[in-house]
Amino acid sequence: MYSSLFTASLLLVPTVLCQTPPGISPAASKNLGVRYNDLTLSANQLLPESTIPGTPTVSLDQSLTGTYMVMLVDQSIPQSSITSTGPQVQGLQPCRTTRLHWLQTSLSQTSSGTFVSNSSAIAEYGSPLPGLDDIAHTYVFWLFPQPANFTLPPWDAGRVYNPIEVYARMNFSTNVIAQEVGAPIAASLVSVPVSVSMPRAGEHNSVW
Ligand SMILES: *[C@@H]1O[C@H](CO)[C@@H](O)[C@H](O)[C@H]1NC(C)=O
Ligand SMILES: *[C@@H]1O[C@H](CO)[C@@H](O)[C@H](O)[C@H]1NC(C)=O
Ligand SMILES: *[C@@H]1O[C@H](CO)[C@@H](O)[C@H](O)[C@H]1NC(C)=O
Repeated sequence: MYSSLFTASLLLVPTVLCQTPPGISPAASKNLGVRYNDLTLSANQLLPESTIPGTPTVSLDQSLTGTYMVMLVDQSIPQSSITSTGPQVQGLQPCRTTRLHWLQTSLSQTSSGTFVSNSSAIAEYGSPLPGLDDIAHTYVFWLFPQPANFTLPPWDAGRVYNPIEVYARMNFSTNVIAQEVGAPIAASLVSVPVSVSMPRAGEHNSVW
């Protein structure tokens, strides 16, 4: 049942154009370059969790002027991690929701194609860390234009997103941002299986 639903949704999506996986919106047609120190991710890469340290650098093989923002959102948070009530952003799989891992605004592109910002992050970068015993999580990077009058749309506004452990990062909507600022310029995803060797703080198990 689950697999046939998944196949059906694949058929509805023009995969050739997609850098975002079927079922994830907003979709983007260009691949966002993502680099961790010496490691450059391929588009839509499957990675062991332990190879993803530090805050990545994002880049685009297209020259852009203006101001941009980047975000990373886990699409595979089990709904059982949700302790509050109310509507939830739909994650990639059934009964899954989202969690914000990174939101950096005020980026501009350098001549090498990478994006840099002198502003502090609205949500500091938090490494992918799927819960023990969970499925591999899918994390999507998006690059959006940032209009001069940008403010977080109501769904995502009024929350404190730091430090990285905060519950307020759950149930983050990227679609409302696209509704405000337009389609993302580029995206990329990384799929991260659980690695039991990663250090975990305290009770942290099934939340990221
Ligand atoms: C999800 O976020 C929206 C907007 O902030 C909020 O109204 C809703 O209650 C949240 N849902 C849960 C389950 O916390
Ligand atoms: C960041 O600050 C440096 C040093 O003040 C400046 O040269 C650079 O242009 C700034 N970059 C951005 C993206 O604002
Ligand atoms: C920003 O300005 C544009 C153009 O004037 C307007 O359409 C949009 O609603 C504004 N956005 C916000 C969040 O105020």
